[in-house]
Amino acid sequence: MDFKRLLVTAALPYANGPVHIGHLAGCYLPADIYVRYQRAQKRDIKFVCGSDEHGVPITIRAMKEGITPQQVVDKYNALIKESFEQMGISFDIYSRTSNKIHHETSQAFFKKLYDDGLFEERESEQYFDEEKQVFLADRYIVGTCPVCSNPNAYGDQCERCGSSLSPEQLINPHSALSNAVPVKKKTKHWYFPLNKYEQWLSEWIVEGKKDEWKANVYGQCKSWLDSGLQPRAMTRDSSWGVPVPLPDAQGKVLYVWFDAPIGYISATKELTNQWSDYWQQEDTKLVHFIGKDNIVFHCIIFPAMLKAHGGYVLPDNVPANEFLNIEGEKVSTSRNWAVWVHDYIKDFPDQQDVLRYVLCSNAPETKDNDFTWKDFQERTNSELVSIFGNFVNRAFVLMHKLCGGRVPKLHTDVMDEADHALIQAIQNTKTLVESDIENYKFRDGLFEVIDLARKGNKYMQDKEPWIVAKSLTENPDNQKLIDNCLHLCLQLTANLAILINPFLPFTARKMCGMMKVVDRMLEWENAGKMNLLNVGYPLKAPELLFRKIEDEEIKTQVEKLHANMVKPNTAATETASTEVKVEHTDLKPEISIDDFAKIDLRAGVILSAEKVEKADKLLKLEIDLGFEKRTVLSGIAQHFSPEEIVGKQVTVVANLAPRKMRGIESKGMILMAQNAEGKLIFVSPLEQATAGSEVK
Ligand code: MF3
Ligand code: ZN
Repeated sequence: MDFKRLLVTAALPYANGPVHIGHLAGCYLPADIYVRYQRAQKRDIKFVCGSDEHGVPITIRAMKEGITPQQVVDKYNALIKESFEQMGISFDIYSRTSNKIHHETSQAFFKKLYDDGLFEERESEQYFDEEKQVFLADRYIVGTCPVCSNPNAYGDQCERCGSSLSPEQLINPHSALSNAVPVKKKTKHWYFPLNKYEQWLSEWIVEGKKDEWKANVYGQCKSWLDSGLQPRAMTRDSSWGVPVPLPDAQGKVLYVWFDAPIGYISATKELTNQWSDYWQQEDTKLVHFIGKDNIVFHCIIFPAMLKAHGGYVLPDNVPANEFLNIEGEKVSTSRNWAVWVHDYIKDFPDQQDVLRYVLCSNAPETKDNDFTWKDFQERTNSELVSIFGNFVNRAFVLMHKLCGGRVPKLHTDVMDEADHALIQAIQNTKTLVESDIENYKFRDGLFEVIDLARKGNKYMQDKEPWIVAKSLTENPDNQKLIDNCLHLCLQLTANLAILINPFLPFTARKMCGMMKVVDRMLEWENAGKMNLLNVGYPLKAPELLFRKIEDEEIKTQVEKLHANMVKPNTAATETASTEVKVEHTDLKPEISIDDFAKIDLRAGVILSAEKVEKADKLLKLEIDLGFEKRTVLSGIAQHFSPEEIVGKQVTVVANLAPRKMRGIESKGMILMAQNAEGKLIFVSPLEQATAGSEVK
């Protein structure tokens, strides 16, 4: 271990809405598992978080609800904090960026960079909403994404394709506040020259961290660095935020992504007088847990700020999870397609660990994953109830029945191979879980624990102490076999409590209660020991650790999810001010599903393209459908040059009757649409589809 203390942060959630289970799975639960494990290892650790209370999402929410930004953050800070507490997310502090200490800390940070002459002061023309009299940065401005044509892309990012954008790149920009078409107006801002840190970042990340950081994190950093870093404005024109601490900066606040990460520092200050040990001593290991949409801020921008300031430690790791979808669809807070944590707690009181279990075992560690209520039920019933809960329950019931309610002795003279194998398995699991957690592989770690419980069940099943009990009158010595089996099963139960504790802390404590041991037994150094429960010690009657989730319950949840979803047209009225009116042709008459089923659409790839002689509109395309190659004539020659479309994915109407044009037979048609500028674009999946696969 090359560090003395740990500082763990979890992304500060925007206090503009409640937290949903995707937030938990993405960042807070993994962080909590990591921290609980480290605490059990008795390491010096601080776990900090808090509400991110500035930035555009808050002001927009305030406008929508007709209240002030302060009221918004007060309301959601309280709700979020409570949700975390109830789920057992064990922050050492949950702070707020509206606190005085944070304003002071972030202003001092800014001032230091300013005094060191690091900012570039630039005057530029920016979009301005004349109706509302505000500049439109970030999410105040909406328009069509130049990359994927999503008509609702924001001025800083397109949420559909993930591209990071600037307001200037948006097509048809309009104000998110008034829907007005903005005008350009001069304004002055302070830019942080990220480009000057490119070299240093590249050495630090590409050379230093590539083998340690998760592939998704490293990959995103690499692509940012490869495309070159630009100076970034660290101030905004707004009345909500941390005021820029300069005399000539009326009406200007710090950019929310400048102040929010400094919130980690302010929260640590609020927590402990020793804050500078955690932030400024080289032997601190700093770990940022985040969701994937925060990667660039934590791996590029914030480290560059820390480096520029000087004197701070840099993150050792930035484990970022991907997203958790719900019932096959992306979470959408505006459509209310989400499972809210406070709702879950209301509907499933005292079932926090069940949710923790499902979210961890299905965590989007390497790719987006899907949460379904069916899966929630299955994992609970077939893993937690049938394997873990069942093992612990049987061990207790049999001990009461066959060993007089006390921990039986271990008779080493009659131990067999299975007994030794079980002890070995416990010790192996400890090592495996340890390395999984240290390496941020929480799913694997959890599976190891469940697997150990599974081995316990198998062991008990093979030993059949209830059958052995029937032979006692004939063979009283067999009590030794029963004792050994239950002695080991009970020591295993104690070990399971220690190993499951980081993941399912409520369960671990319940188990301690049943075993009548103090919570201190849960310290990690006790894992692997086979003398955790004293021989002759009376244990309590078993309590069921988990209960089955019934069909009815999950049916209710699925219905609730659909019922509460804001339907597309109501969503449209709600966000009417951000929607663009699209010119459209009238819809064709309705068709049946059978009519549609007659059309065979396939994914294809353009292998080659050439002009057709004497036909200025036509291109002759060679298309790979996987199972065959086709010649298709397409009237797109005025929109594309042959070279630029080779390799593109297309959707082909594959069963269209062949047609001859200019002496060439065209077999099929490719689908096209128009973007906001009237340019033709191919209708193709966002991700690479297999050539020949059906489009349905
Ligand atoms: N509020 C941001 C979000 O929810 C996260 C801020 S993380 C911090 O995406 F580092 F800036 F604090
Ligand atoms: Zn896009």
